[in-house]
Amino acid sequence: MPKDNSIKSVLIVGSGPIVIGQACEFDYSGSQAARSLREEGIEVILINSNPATIMTDPMMADRVYLLPLTIESIEEILEQNPQIDSVLPTMGGQTALNLCKEADELGVWEKFNVKMIGVDVKAIDTAEDREKFRQLMVKIGVGVAPSKVANSLLEGKEFAQEIGIPLVIRPSFTLGGSGGSIVFHKDELDSALERGLQASPMHEVLVEKALMGWKEFELELLRDKNDNVVIICTVENFDPMGVHTGDSITVAPAMTLSDTAFQNMRNMAIKMMRSLGNFAGGCNVQFAMNPETEEIISVEINPRVSRSSALASKATGYPIAKIAAKLAIGYTLDELKNQITQTTSAYFEPALDYVIVKMPRWNFDKFKGADDRLGLQMKSVGEVMSIGRSFTEAIQKACQSLENNAVGLGYYGQSVKHAEELIEYIKVPKWDRIFRIKDALMAGVSVKTIVEATKIDRWFIYQIQDIVNMERELMKHDMQSITKELLREAKRMGFSDEQICRIMKEDASEDELYEKRKAWGITRVYKMVDTCSAEFEAKTPYYYSTFE
Ligand SMILES: Nc1ncnc2c1ncn2[C@@H]1O[C@H](COP(=O)(O)OP(=O)(O)O)[C@@H](O)[C@H]1O
Ligand SMILES: [Mg+2]
Repeated sequence: MPKDNSIKSVLIVGSGPIVIGQACEFDYSGSQAARSLREEGIEVILINSNPATIMTDPMMADRVYLLPLTIESIEEILEQNPQIDSVLPTMGGQTALNLCKEADELGVWEKFNVKMIGVDVKAIDTAEDREKFRQLMVKIGVGVAPSKVANSLLEGKEFAQEIGIPLVIRPSFTLGGSGGSIVFHKDELDSALERGLQASPMHEVLVEKALMGWKEFELELLRDKNDNVVIICTVENFDPMGVHTGDSITVAPAMTLSDTAFQNMRNMAIKMMRSLGNFAGGCNVQFAMNPETEEIISVEINPRVSRSSALASKATGYPIAKIAAKLAIGYTLDELKNQITQTTSAYFEPALDYVIVKMPRWNFDKFKGADDRLGLQMKSVGEVMSIGRSFTEAIQKACQSLENNAVGLGYYGQSVKHAEELIEYIKVPKWDRIFRIKDALMAGVSVKTIVEATKIDRWFIYQIQDIVNMERELMKHDMQSITKELLREAKRMGFSDEQICRIMKEDASEDELYEKRKAWGITRVYKMVDTCSAEFEAKTPYYYSTFE
């Protein structure tokens, strides 16, 4: 079925000011969508109150309105542009969705004869209203954590007694975990409830059993109007449940999932997306998994392009927002081309032959007095993404990109804490936890103890142990004694030259090391991100560097 020709002029709603939890990712999706629609000869009108975005560049749309994201602005635009026939609300995060939903309730779209594309309001309602979502999951037989919905402080306190502590407070209709928290002690309950109720535009929170120590996963999906579904990417969180995915170190593809668990998750994600209604476009599903029993519980579903779809796009090379925009105007997945290979279809799940690590970046030093513990509400102000051939390489590259003096997993301002103190310290998730885990391993703490203290999967801790073992090996050497084999192995594990020089016995210069490895032929090679593990020829790939 070709595209819907009745769509000639589309309004894209942006995500407004950059705030913690909703930043440039949505600028990325909005820009991609604008480009994708204009490619089809469709006029694009754009509204965003934030001039510091790419999408508000005059080149991006036929008309750009720098107006506050309010109903009044929408009406003003629709009055000035009677030709607008559709609105795409799914590219501007929660802000755009909430605004478009409000406009729908007020009858604005109906009045101006504009249809919402790429989503349906019922789907947003069900997904964002924690109670409706819970009921739907129960109906389709997908697990959820024991929980109750509260609309008042009193109700919340009553349910908290039933559910018991620790519990989590999850407000409805918010983004980036705004207003959400974990309650470990009774005396934290009232303020946590009040904050949650206040953050929710409909004064509603879910009081839920805390799934502490469960693993967290995220799947990115696309669906067309014929109900074809592809899973673009599976992302695993390094940090277990209780640290917002936006504040977690994440890895793609999933590293520690068994094949059965992965298949289960896939099936559940597809079932969940289909149960939500008939919209065509992107969708993001989050799961928690009990590490012992592999029981899987759904955390939430976002029937729109999400924060992590920008990451998934860069991780896989599959332009999710661009394709989502095409699906919204009626194309089906099998009709669209994979933009990277240009020969395979978009109805083709990307395959990765490398490892992606996303690492958030926090700026607590700019927020004096702020609570630096990580939890249900996002606190990071940005993130880096790295690509490597192994987890060890990717995680070290990510550390090196944080611009905080880390030269790899060894952090510059190294900890002077003793083993016992470190074990206590890493029990609470904070921005520097991964660096302290490495310090603890250096101090001789066992993998088992660290797993018990952090509930991070032991596979990840063993990977860090490998880095530690290499560091110990390098410590024994200087520029003269280091061997070609050792240096090659260190480079493959993502050690930077500067990092190696600092670790080695005597002060060595980076330049000297560089010359040495060049003479040994240990130099960077470049590999492709081609969406298909090199099974097809790629026309517009991008590259990452690595060592062989
Ligand atoms: N029952 C729970 N126990 C522990 N942590 C939870 C629970 N439910 C959610 N979380 C954590 O809270 C985070 C945010 O919850 P989520 O429903 O994804 O909200 P948001 O809409 O902000 O993304 C999740 O990424 C997860 O780590
Ligand atoms: Mg989430």
